[in-house]
Amino acid sequence: MKIAIIKELAEGERRVAGTPETVKKFKALGAEVAVEAGAGLTADIADQDYAAMGAALGDRAATVAGADIILGVQGPDPASIAGAKPGAWIVAGLNPFAERARVDAYAAAGYEALAMEFMPRITRAQSMDILSSQSNLAGYKAVLDAAHEYGRAFPMMMTAAGTISPARAFVMGVGVAGLQAIATAKRLGAQVSATDVRSATKEQIESLGAKAIFVESVAGIEGEGKGGYATEMSEEYRKAQAELVSSHIARQDIVITTALIPGKPAPRLITDAQIASMKPGSVIVDLAVEQGGNVEGAVAGQVVERHGVKIVGHKNVPSRLAADASALFARNLYNFLSAFWNKDQNAPVLDEEIGNAIRITQGGKVVSERLL
Ligand code: NAI
Repeated sequence: MKIAIIKELAEGERRVAGTPETVKKFKALGAEVAVEAGAGLTADIADQDYAAMGAALGDRAATVAGADIILGVQGPDPASIAGAKPGAWIVAGLNPFAERARVDAYAAAGYEALAMEFMPRITRAQSMDILSSQSNLAGYKAVLDAAHEYGRAFPMMMTAAGTISPARAFVMGVGVAGLQAIATAKRLGAQVSATDVRSATKEQIESLGAKAIFVESVAGIEGEGKGGYATEMSEEYRKAQAELVSSHIARQDIVITTALIPGKPAPRLITDAQIASMKPGSVIVDLAVEQGGNVEGAVAGQVVERHGVKIVGHKNVPSRLAADASALFARNLYNFLSAFWNKDQNAPVLDEEIGNAIRITQGGKVVSERLL
């Protein structure tokens, strides 16, 4: 059993799918581990740190040659792993909807591609969930990015020269990223409020010491769909939400948006007119910018200014904390493969529930229901 950890080639991707810690653990399971030279450099991991744990360092071709499992943060370009053997597993965040051509190429080459972002949200898979581990860091970094762009302080400060009032921060979308954004903004001393369509989040917001801003006027709203994710809301709800947000947002200094609906473009939560109602110098961070954006005018990969308000649209926010993001991502992969490790076969053997959820290509075909 040979496990290959390859260098990420996508622009702006600083993370790596394996760390010296996970190399050591895979070796302890009985696997051989090969690491592409330089794979960890952007995440502050030197080649010799992998080698010290028993990894074989080499170029791309040597790393993938004969590998049974290829680990990546993002799905590798099929041409770049051409020497891998048919039947090899590709385990990564494969972004299968946006990278459909790549998925088809994996199938054609006979690889078994496992999309880690399709991991079911069940208790036993929590430690394997890349979306959670990465969103948590993104929520944290979004608040730091906002603080960086903001020309004022977050906490109240009482100084000899007078008092500085605290920043007001509003978090829209309270999943994993939003909860961490609330906690981070609180720690920095902001006055924090938050909203979501899932009523279950109200208690979570309040337990973090923030104010919950919820649409109460529309009857029968739950907003929670399959697997704990949000569903698309009715026209009536969206109107009520827009009115509520309009009156609230005009008084905010910092807004962090994180709202996503699986398989759909991100819901539009903030319009240009609402941005115009905010004070100059306010900052909005749109964490959903790469999925279509929650904020009108947000541009992926840029910080733009509209009506004196900065709109931050950094791409791949977890990669901005590459060392920690890699450590958690690598552990997610290890937790996944080790949970299914079969000692006799010296290989992982997936069960039906998780295998069916994440396997997207097998036997030369695309097999995921979500892609058919
Ligand atoms: P996500 O990234 O899909 O969405 C972020 C948030 O945006 C969600 O809270 C969603 O309700 C909210 N949202 C969607 N449309 C909105 C709108 N129009 N206005 C305001 N907010 C809107 O969510 P994430 O972080 O993936 O979490 C989803 C759920 O999965 C949560 O209930 C979380 O606790 C659960 N979860 C379960 C895990 C497990 O059991 N293994 C692991 C991680 C999360």
